[in-house]
Amino acid sequence: MNEMSAVKPQDALALALAGDMEAVNALIRERMASRHAPRIPEVTAHLVEAGGKRLRPMLTLAAARLCGYQGDDHVKLAATVEFIHTATLLHDDVVDESTQRRGRPTANLLWDNKSSVLVGDYLFARSFQLMVETGSLRVLDILANASATIAEGEVLQLTAAQDLKTDEGVYLQVVRGKTAALFSAATEAGGVIAGAPEPVVQALFAYGDALGVAFQIADDLLDYGGSSAAIGKNVGDDFRERKVTLPVIKAVAKADEQARAFWVRVIEKGDQRPGDLEQALELLQSSGALDAARAEAFAWAGKAREALESVPDHPLRAVLSDLADYVVSRLN
Ligand code: IPE
Ligand code: IPE
Ligand code: MG
Ligand code: MG
Repeated sequence: MNEMSAVKPQDALALALAGDMEAVNALIRERMASRHAPRIPEVTAHLVEAGGKRLRPMLTLAAARLCGYQGDDHVKLAATVEFIHTATLLHDDVVDESTQRRGRPTANLLWDNKSSVLVGDYLFARSFQLMVETGSLRVLDILANASATIAEGEVLQLTAAQDLKTDEGVYLQVVRGKTAALFSAATEAGGVIAGAPEPVVQALFAYGDALGVAFQIADDLLDYGGSSAAIGKNVGDDFRERKVTLPVIKAVAKADEQARAFWVRVIEKGDQRPGDLEQALELLQSSGALDAARAEAFAWAGKAREALESVPDHPLRAVLSDLADYVVSRLN
């Protein structure tokens, strides 16, 4: 813990990076506009003005600063990363048929699926324009790979949903793809733009990867145990979507005949009745699945902290370490 531990690590990061983040937000506002299609700024403003935690761009800025970077290309990179994130959220809410995001109705609900898909495409394209401006082929490689990996993760999840044979290996592949790939690209690209030595770049990648996995396991747990006011999204979405997330995988592995019949009915057959979400929660609890998944999230947070041992000693290092604890502390 460091001297800033009284505030949330994400707020400590925002404070330490305030000047840089102001530049990132200004760049995001400038580039989310379109002179030719008014629907674009309508949709992007709706989502961008709702805020979001801006975790990923802060990771890029922090990684670059941690490595002593003095230029300003890290601002473009950070905005690129947030654009990729925002594009995936627009697409994800269509795929998941979600109705709430960042405490607001989703764009697919307010406008329609077509607008969300097309504006998401536009933001993806804008993100590529921005990263090209850094002139770094290596950074382009990292972010282009991450974009492909995110899409792969989302598609793999699509085919694993409703399938109780999904195991923890497949789950980890999905999570590494859809979520951790952008976290690790965010931190790795920050190190690369700063010209950090290879072992440091690798450590930053490992930190982002483990942080992303911890973050998504926590998100999946909150989908069963959180409050929709606290997460700005509806709880129980994963259950209704019949997603086989880590808590469910662990509960199914421990299920007796009766419990197994329940999971087959609600997840595989999709025959969900009133009270089933509560029944699922009860099974997740009594089988020890929630505790086991929580322990795994904490273990990944520990891996993230360990990776930081190989990055330069800098005040931001302690903040990043606290951030790893914080993403899972939402589970306490
Ligand atoms: C949401 O990410 C998507 C997931 C990977 C679970 P965040 O929780 O970081 O979303 P915002 O940007 O803060 O809204
Ligand atoms: C979000 O995954 C990951 C991406 C946007 C690529 P989820 O579908 O699990 O996240 P939420 O719960 O909608 O934020
Ligand atoms: Mg979703
Ligand atoms: Mg999804």
